[in-house]
Amino acid sequence: MLISHAKKLAGEVSVPGDKSISHRAVILGSIASGVTEIRHFLLSADCLATIDCFQKMGIEIVGRGEVGKDEKVVIRGRGMRGLREPSRTLQAGNSGTTLRLLTGLLAPQRFTSRIDGDESLRRRPMNRIIEPLSLMGGSVQAIGRGGCAPVIIHGNPLIGLHYESPVASAQVKSSILLAGLYADGETTVTEPGPSRNHTELMLRSFGQPVQTNGSTVTLRPEYHLQGREVTVPGDISSAACFAAAGLIIRGSELCLKNVGVNPTRSGFLKVCEQMGAKITRENERTSAGEPAADLIVKSSSLTGVEIGGDLIPTLIDELPILAVLACFASGTTVIKDASELKVKETNRIDAMVENLKRLGADIEATEDGMVIHGGRPLKGTALDSRGDHRVAMACAVAALAASGDSEIAGAECVEVSYPAFFDDLKKLIQDPDKPAPAPKA
Ligand code: S3P
Repeated sequence: MLISHAKKLAGEVSVPGDKSISHRAVILGSIASGVTEIRHFLLSADCLATIDCFQKMGIEIVGRGEVGKDEKVVIRGRGMRGLREPSRTLQAGNSGTTLRLLTGLLAPQRFTSRIDGDESLRRRPMNRIIEPLSLMGGSVQAIGRGGCAPVIIHGNPLIGLHYESPVASAQVKSSILLAGLYADGETTVTEPGPSRNHTELMLRSFGQPVQTNGSTVTLRPEYHLQGREVTVPGDISSAACFAAAGLIIRGSELCLKNVGVNPTRSGFLKVCEQMGAKITRENERTSAGEPAADLIVKSSSLTGVEIGGDLIPTLIDELPILAVLACFASGTTVIKDASELKVKETNRIDAMVENLKRLGADIEATEDGMVIHGGRPLKGTALDSRGDHRVAMACAVAALAASGDSEIAGAECVEVSYPAFFDDLKKLIQDPDKPAPAPKA
């Protein structure tokens, strides 16, 4: 994908539905009773993998509406015990959320299942969920190299667990909570810091109470889930790329419509504010417990900051794009406590440091993050997504703000979370030297 320097961005964009929430709506809709209708569902490779897994377990799921307009998915839930033994391996593709959440859900079923994924997914750690699921009485084996996928799950009755997770990970927490729905007794997960709470919010909206106390979540499985209508807000991880581009390309002004701003997910906005970014929220609203707003972004002079501690889980997927922002901020930005970046779709510390260095940035990798001295001019060059959608999108933004042209290898991986990313980006690029089209009579 060729990306050239952009002089200005302007206009409005409605980013696709949130990936984490779309996955969870399919999962809960499938084991709920009755119909679940999901609006603004994210029709991307990751979420389609989750749909495919449930179809293989006998759940009727149909897509309605048009991509980019009124994406709708309708699920005919078969209740808590309605999943059928899949006759083939379930394929999670590139999706860690599909693999880890489904492993938790399938551990207490009355059948055996097997889940596999692509090369990247086969390198991602599974012990973080196998350990707690085993403590609950689950029988889960990761038979791939280094204890990774493929995963074989022999369904077993489970008992509730009080688990202190060594990592702040919504995938670990959600995997345990989904298993806990079927367990005998109460399940509690305590994290080192609170991770995104979409599972808790959606469980509540489907009728299953969940208690939250700081970074501890407790579930007593006495309820049945009831299908419902879910409206998915726009994905803040996708919106962050446009926001960053609008901030660093001089003279830009963007309106990002209907972006999810759940506080456990929106650390990006907090950091932008600390850096001096002009981003304001309009039309704030809540749907099924998930807050959303329109974001107005104006190009801004930015200052470097330190990003670490409990903030990290709230912006973990936005760290690649924050590294790009830091290159355009005055002073130094330190990203720390973020070693989780090494076990994402690729090692995102290495990938961002290498790509931004190629562009001429002053950036170094550390054990648990990066140090970026901002202000060096970036110059277009050959970049590599390493097959990671967030790296591809962050590179695209860096390339837009750099001088000259850049070529991003493997940019098609954006299909994982935002298939129309490059089309939507192109629509925002303005040429201030060209006269504006005459208004229609
Ligand atoms: C996700 C949780 C995060 C995030 C991933 C989606 C989720 O992963 O990076 O893109 O939907 O629960 P971890 O739980 O591994 O931090």
